[in-house]
Amino acid sequence: MSKGKEAVVTPWEVKGNIDYGKLIEKFGVSKIDKKLLSRIAKVCGGEDKVHPFLRRGIFFAHRDLKWALDEYDKGNKFYLYTGCGPSGPVHLGHATIWQFTKWLQDVFDCELYFQFTDDEKFLFKDKSFDEIQKWVHENMLDVIAFGFDHKKTHFIVDTKHANIMYPQAIQVAKKLTTSTVKSAFGLKDSSNVGQMFYTAMQAVPAFLPSQLKGKNIPCLIPHAIDQDPHFRVTRDILPKLGYYKPASIQSRFLPGLGGIQKDGKLSSSTGAAIYMTDSAKDVKKKINKYAFSGGQATVEEHRRLGGNPDVDVSYQWLSFFEEDDSKLAAIYADYKSGKLLSGELKAILIEKVNGILAAHQKRRAKAESKISKFMLKV
Ligand code: TRP
Repeated sequence: MSKGKEAVVTPWEVKGNIDYGKLIEKFGVSKIDKKLLSRIAKVCGGEDKVHPFLRRGIFFAHRDLKWALDEYDKGNKFYLYTGCGPSGPVHLGHATIWQFTKWLQDVFDCELYFQFTDDEKFLFKDKSFDEIQKWVHENMLDVIAFGFDHKKTHFIVDTKHANIMYPQAIQVAKKLTTSTVKSAFGLKDSSNVGQMFYTAMQAVPAFLPSQLKGKNIPCLIPHAIDQDPHFRVTRDILPKLGYYKPASIQSRFLPGLGGIQKDGKLSSSTGAAIYMTDSAKDVKKKINKYAFSGGQATVEEHRRLGGNPDVDVSYQWLSFFEEDDSKLAAIYADYKSGKLLSGELKAILIEKVNGILAAHQKRRAKAESKISKFMLKV
C-alpha cells in the first residue's frame, strides 16, 4: 500500500512527498548522468569546479542538454532563459535557481533573457495589476542582487514588452489547441481565457533572440521541475515555427521548513518561507520555530540513537547552501551519530543563511539604479 496521496507537481501547485525518480519518468525528462557532468567539468576547469547543485543532484534532470553542449563545442553558443513570477517577495527557493543561472552565465559566458510574468500572476492570483507591478519592481532588485552581468542580461516584462512579445506569442498560440492546454495544465472550461493563452507568453523567450537576430540560436532554460509542462508544450511547437527546441535543466525544490512530506516545496503560499529581505532575527526565529527536526525527543536519546539527517530540514537546507563538501559530510556524520544536537544543527544553518542574506541585502541596496540597464531594448 502506498503511503498517503501521490505528490502533485504542476506549475500552479506543488505538494506531497515528491519522488524525483518517478517524476523523471512521468515528465519524460532525462537524468543528468556522470557523462554530462564530466562534459560540464571540462568547460569549467575540473570536477571540483562543477557547481555543488550539479554535483549533488539538486539540478537533477534535463532535456537535450547534450545537444546544447554539442552546439557549444561547435562554437554555436546557447543563451540562457529563466524567469520570475512576480506575486510576492523572493525567497530562498528562487535563490537556488537564480544563483545557478548566474553560475551558468559565468562559466559559459552567455546571454541571459529573464522574463517577469506580470500577466501570469495577474491572471492566476487574486491580486490587482498594481500590486503585481510593485512585485515586478521588488523582484528585479533581488534578481540584480544575484550579480548578473547587465551587458549580457535582458529583462523582459510581459506587459511592458508587449509590442515585442505579443506578435510572437500569437505565432505560438495559433499552433496550440485548447485541449492541449487543458490537459497539460489541468485547466478547465471555467478557467479564465487569459490563463489558456498564458503559456504562449512563456514560450516566447525560448526563441525571441533567434527571431530578433534573424538566426537560430540554441536556448537553455534552467528552471524548477514544476515549470516543465510549459516547456514541453514549447518544445512541440517551436520546430513548427522554424526554431530549435529549447534545451532545459531542472532542479528539485528546496523543501519547505515544515518538512519534506508536509510542504513539498518552499513557497510563500505553503508554510513558513525565508525571504531574501528577512532580518537576521527573523531567520533565527523561523528556523528555530519551524524547521522540521530529525532529532530525538530528548538529549539523552539523541546521544544514544543519533538523529536522522535525511528528514531533517536544517540538514537538507545545508545540502543546498553549504558549498564545502567535507564540512557537509562531517555535519551529516555528526548528526547521525548523535554528537551534533538538533539545536546545534539549526545554529549552523542560521549562521549560513544569515551570511547569504547579509551579502544579498548589501547588493540589493545598490540595485535600484541599475534596473534600466537590464531592461531589454530593441
Ligand atoms: N512561470 C514562472 C513562475 O511562476 C515564471 C517563469 C517565466 C519562468 N518564464 C520562466 C521560470 C522560465 C523558469 C523559466 O515563477
